[in-house]
Amino acid sequence: MVIQWFPGHMAKATREVKEKLKLVDIVFELVDARCPLSSHNMYLDEVVKDKKKIIIFNKIDLCDRKETVKWKNYFENKGYVVVYTDAKNSNNLNKVIDKAKEELAEKIARQVAKGIKPRAIRSMVIGVPNVGKSTFINKLIKKNVANTANKPGVTKKQQWLKLNKDIELLDTPGILMPKFDNQEIGKKLSLIGSIKDDITPLDDVSLYLIELLKNNYLENLNNHYKLNVKAEDENLTIMEKIAEKRFKKIGGDYDYDSTIKLLIQDFRTQKFGLITLDNYNEIVNNEESYED
Ligand code: G4P
Repeated sequence: MVIQWFPGHMAKATREVKEKLKLVDIVFELVDARCPLSSHNMYLDEVVKDKKKIIIFNKIDLCDRKETVKWKNYFENKGYVVVYTDAKNSNNLNKVIDKAKEELAEKIARQVAKGIKPRAIRSMVIGVPNVGKSTFINKLIKKNVANTANKPGVTKKQQWLKLNKDIELLDTPGILMPKFDNQEIGKKLSLIGSIKDDITPLDDVSLYLIELLKNNYLENLNNHYKLNVKAEDENLTIMEKIAEKRFKKIGGDYDYDSTIKLLIQDFRTQKFGLITLDNYNEIVNNEESYED
């Protein structure tokens, strides 16, 4: 089963985002720090064109920092400004405002030189579902303004929130779904909750999680399930070992369904520790296939 990456309502949401982008000076793209490339919209530059952009690695509290540093360099080498945040705990949010002001300082100085009184900088947040867009807005504004259950395609009157005297933020984040064919990206987006479980082949996703864990975080995997598996072991064999440890057999067979759910739940509740799904070396050595 192939995941349906780009459901119809996403096309409508993308059109709406493009409309709103016309109103802003700078865009904050939130990505999940556990997979900054997979949750980044590869068409951002096409969509956003000449606007300033800041890539915000949110959920920095959940990722493997060794990998994060490599990804930060990767994006910076492509000309992006990168800021790390933990929106849930309001960490580093002011840095985003400072960076935005820095990025627009030249434009503002030019206006001042021409005798134009600059208006407040206008900004908006965009990103794939579940990267923390609403949390980011609410924590930044210190109120619950952005509805965490916001739905793509549901329009409402937009409002500008004042972050300080120089900068305003659109109250509704733009939900952008990357359009791509790469199934690995899709499986990662499923693990971070960007794609709904009911349109996802969770068996494939959980076997893929085993693959990533055994290759890059074998000790975490073994410690959590008290196993002694090796990176050479088949993914299915590892799944069966987990099933054996955790669930009773059903009619003589492993309880695959419960094991699949357990694996995904354990990832989403950080039972494996600080994990980054986008492994820098693996992806950069294989970049062409990633970009299709
Ligand atoms: P979205 O608008 O981009 O769809 O994301 P949203 O703000 O709804 O956040 C999705 C989930 O991610 C929420 O958890 C939120 O608390 C969590 N989150 C946001 N930013 C961070 C962060 O920097 N670190 C961590 N660890 N979590 C973050 P939830 O379980 O769905 O809701 P709740 O139980 O927290 O209310």
